[in-house]
Amino acid sequence: MIQKRLHANRVLGGVDLTVRYRPERPPVLDGQTIDVPIGRVTMLIGPNGSGKSTLLKTLSRQIAAERGVVILDGRDIATLSAREVALSLGILFQENQAPHDLTVEELVCHGRYPHRRLFDPLTAEDRFAVEQALTLCGAGPLRDRPISQISSGQKQLAWIAMLLAQSPHYLFLDEPTTYLDLPHQFDVMNLVRHLNRELGCTIVITMHDLNLAARFGDHIVALHQGRIVAAGAPEEVLTTATLRTVFDIESRLFRDEQTGSLHCVPINRIPAAGGRPR
Ligand SMILES: Nc1ncnc2c1ncn2[C@@H]1O[C@H](COP(=O)(O)OP(=O)(O)OP(=O)(O)O)[C@@H](O)[C@H]1O
Ligand SMILES: [Mg+2]
Repeated sequence: MIQKRLHANRVLGGVDLTVRYRPERPPVLDGQTIDVPIGRVTMLIGPNGSGKSTLLKTLSRQIAAERGVVILDGRDIATLSAREVALSLGILFQENQAPHDLTVEELVCHGRYPHRRLFDPLTAEDRFAVEQALTLCGAGPLRDRPISQISSGQKQLAWIAMLLAQSPHYLFLDEPTTYLDLPHQFDVMNLVRHLNRELGCTIVITMHDLNLAARFGDHIVALHQGRIVAAGAPEEVLTTATLRTVFDIESRLFRDEQTGSLHCVPINRIPAAGGRPR
């Protein structure tokens, strides 16, 4: 069953994280420290190649840091078993691949793997969690459809349903709204808000859409060339000065009266010295 997550003793953060993909190349993240606020939605923003996915994968132990430590609930994440990590964390990658003939329901059942022993049938509790996840994500009507035969937005919801069936305390979503039309972007982000506000999941999301980040994020972390250059509430991070540093863009920011959230209107790219585009 998917129960409300309790926050006592929960901690997630990284200290002095240095990550390198190739020994001959400079590190992609160099000595970065991040605190993930528990019970909140954190948005990682930054240009292509700035290190968002790398930071997400490091915090979720998909990649090991060369130096530094990720602390999950008071323990060094490197010392936890794969099952302990899977019971705590759910991850949606930027690109997800499922076997072509797998149905939506089979994918969601797969989310129960940390709770089960290999080859054991699903228990009543597993079934209940799967049904709840399908319902919450609106994926019930798709249950018998092969993953390969549904739309990108429907796939995204099916993958999130799988993570939900896993009942994690922490959800990591790498660009969950890319390629989605506006209604599906809102479906995913409203679901994120529900998982956070109603079920108490701590959620970390990488995102290019600054307006969605401002609307649905409680905390924003801005990355530039592998460095965290700003972290805080949307109004602290989304400033014209920070957007200049991070994205090389001139922008205008205003608060929408109805939603109360910040909106960013990008005006133009800042020309390089000499007047030519960078
Ligand atoms: N598997 C890899 N092997 C080598 N270098 C990598 C690998 N993955 C990422 N990089 C490099 O690490 C840097 C950060 O990449 P990362 O994928 O974390 O950026 P990102 O902010 O998520 O970008 P995007 O917005 O395009 O998804 C880039 O320079 C990238 O080329
Ligand atoms: Mg990425």
